[in-house]
Amino acid sequence: MLRRVFILSCLLTLVAGNFYTFSARDIDGETKHLADYAGKVSLVVNVASECGYTESNYRDLVALQKQYKSFGFNVLAFPCNQFGEQEPETEANIKSLLKRSYHVNFPLFSKIDVMGPDAHPVYEYLYEETGKRPTWNFAKYLINRSGKVVQFFDTKIQTIDIRQQIERLMKYKDEF
Ligand SMILES: *[C@@H]1O[C@H](CO)[C@@H](O)[C@H](O)[C@H]1NC(C)=O
Repeated sequence: MLRRVFILSCLLTLVAGNFYTFSARDIDGETKHLADYAGKVSLVVNVASECGYTESNYRDLVALQKQYKSFGFNVLAFPCNQFGEQEPETEANIKSLLKRSYHVNFPLFSKIDVMGPDAHPVYEYLYEETGKRPTWNFAKYLINRSGKVVQFFDTKIQTIDIRQQIERLMKYKDEF
């Protein structure tokens, strides 16, 4: 009986999926399986290079990645041109700008839509799980080590305020 319950709950987890069952193209166009980040905490961010929030966000995101990566954490950045058309450049240009200006140290993905008919499946999933969509550049979703979407942060929430939540999630290592 217990065994049956266990198998059933495993099957449900499989069907329900989790963040780390998806894949996306990286900024060089290569398919990246998000399973590569499973077992870690992720902060998923829709980024744009020409936004009023760009500089402070990259500064803080680079600092988070530097501080927490070795404990099992990644910022995962998805460029998106849907808010004020503030990410108009090609992926190659975005990449070189980010490396040059901010020394970006976390994974960058290809430009995607985060809403609308062409919304990327990853963002559809984030919406299904939270009922929240980005309303501007630099909205954030925090994912725990098992791939569960734990929290949505609006653009206006300072990255510094997310720090506590990240530290809390990083403590749980046993269940993935
Ligand atoms: C992730 O969140 C889910 C839902 O709250 C929870 O059941 C699971 O134990 C969490 N996993 C980790 C590793 O924190």
